[in-house]
This record gives sequence, C-alpha cells and structure tokens, in this order.
Amino acid sequence: MKNIRTIAITSGKGGVGKTNLAANLAVALQQLGEKVLIFDADLGLSNVDVLLGLVTPFNIQHVLNGKKNLREVIVEGPQGIKILPASSGIQEITQLDEFQRLKLLEEFETFQGEIDTLIIDTGAGISHNVAFFCISAQTIIVVISPEPTALTDGYALIKVLFTQYQEKDFKILVNSVQDASEGLKVFKRLAVATEKYLQVSLDYLGFISKDDSIPKAVRAQKSFLDIYPESVASKNILSLAAKLKEDAISPLKGSLQLFLGNMIGEANDVRL
Ligand SMILES: Nc1ncnc2c1ncn2[C@@H]1O[C@H](COP(=O)(O)OP(=O)(O)OP(=O)(O)O)[C@@H](O)[C@H]1O
Ligand SMILES: [Mg+2]
Repeated sequence: MKNIRTIAITSGKGGVGKTNLAANLAVALQQLGEKVLIFDADLGLSNVDVLLGLVTPFNIQHVLNGKKNLREVIVEGPQGIKILPASSGIQEITQLDEFQRLKLLEEFETFQGEIDTLIIDTGAGISHNVAFFCISAQTIIVVISPEPTALTDGYALIKVLFTQYQEKDFKILVNSVQDASEGLKVFKRLAVATEKYLQVSLDYLGFISKDDSIPKAVRAQKSFLDIYPESVASKNILSLAAKLKEDAISPLKGSLQLFLGNMIGEANDVRL
C-alpha cells in the first residue's frame, strides 16, 4: 500500500482549537494538491462533522461490526476532503481482534491512491486512546495557546507521552495569538521547560492568529479557509500546510498500515 502520511492533532487543554485546525489544515493541504482524510477520534460534542455542517448517518462502528464498508461511512467535506466520523466505538479501536484489524486494513486499502494524508483529531488530555493515536502517527501536533493553563497542560501531555511512551518528536502550534512574536514567545516558554526538565526538544510548527473569522465560520458551520480565504487565519493555515508538506517524513513510523497495526499491536502494552 502506498505510504499515507499520518498526523495526530492533540492538546493538553480542551477548546484550544484542535478541530478547527484539523478541518482547515485538511482543506489547506487539499488545496495544495494532497488528498486528505480526517479521522475524527474525539468523542466530544464538537466534532468535525458538526463543525463543517455535514450529515453523517454512519460512523466507524458500522464498519467494525460489518454493517457498512468504509466508503459508505466516509463523507465528503469542503474542497473534497474526506471525513471519517467519530463514534463511541473509538474506545474499542485499541482493542480490535485480528479479524477486525484485517478488515479495517482491507477497507482502507480500497482507498489506495485516494488518500495521501490522514489527519487524526484526538480528544484533549492524555487518555489511553489519545496516546495511541499520537504514538502511532508520524507527526504529532500539540496545540497550545497563550493562556497559562493551555501551556502547562501542553507540558503535562508532552511529559506523559515522553516518559511513558518514549515519544520525542513534537510539533507545536500556538493558536489564538496577537501576532507572530507572541507565537514564538509562547513556544519558547514551553520549549525551555521541556528541554530543561524532560530533555525533549520541540519543533515550532507556527501560529494561528486570534481571528474573528474563525468563530464566524464555526457559527456558519463552514471551514474558515473556505468562506474567508482572505482572512489572517487562512493565510496562517496555508503557510502551516505548506511547511508540513515540505517536511521530511520519518520512515520509521506512521504509514497507514503501521498506524493501524500499532493501534492494535501496542494496545496491550500500554499502561497509564
Ligand atoms: N485562532 C482563533 N481565533 C479565534 N477563535 C478561535 C481560534 N481558534 C479557535 N477558536 C474558537 O475556539 C473554539 C474552540 O475551537 P475547537 O473546537 O477547534 O477546539 P478543540 O481544541 O477542538 O476543542 P475540544 O477540546 O473541545 O475538542 C471555537 O469555537 C473557535 O471559534
Ligand atoms: Mg475538538
């Protein structure tokens, strides 16, 4: 199977902008010629489909229990991005048996050539599940904001992923900043702490400005990049997408096959 890039988007604190980032980064990458699938792995209320005003009659649970195939469950969003809706079954995804695992792999294989990048929108905080999605993905994006609690919760998340899962590569996105210098300042504050206390060095992915077009687009249930392409936030997201696209991908982890394999293979080893 062709290598599919996997990106997990996560945060320590809730409500810092993960789902907006996942949805709009997907649209941005799609504009840059990538074919993107969002895997909604958050059980919260504000899901990707709701954010984009999509109707999703089925979810991954219907695939796992054999009632639907993946193609019937995945819905299409703005610019042709694909969305795999969340379900309470996401809890079970770390405990699939061999048959279900193969079935899921087989299902994904029917999308050969139709997906280049898989973006996983995880829940906030460090649960069993969030850890799986993060350690199984090639790229982990931790979203923080200038709020002190978003920073300390981000630090706590990185600490757990490092100390309990030996994860060392994190890309940091600072959301809701006044300007570029605030983004960098907030990033540095976190980077200094992780370097000093954890010996983990962080990679600065960039920032998204605090921008009214985001809540406006949320209310309209549309992607802000789609309906406010000239907004500051849209410009920010396009440069983030371009940066991610340029990045060399670690060959050691995270192809889709490995991703699905890891989610199950390592499920038994994880302790929190
Ligand atoms: N850069 C920004 N400027 C202004 N408002 C923003 C920005 N980013 C996010 N928001 C607002 O913050 C709210 C929360 O965003 P979002 O749902 O993406 O967060 P989340 O991290 O996915 O939350 P949860 O942890 O509940 O899943 C949204 O209603 C959105 O309007
Ligand atoms: Mg969310």
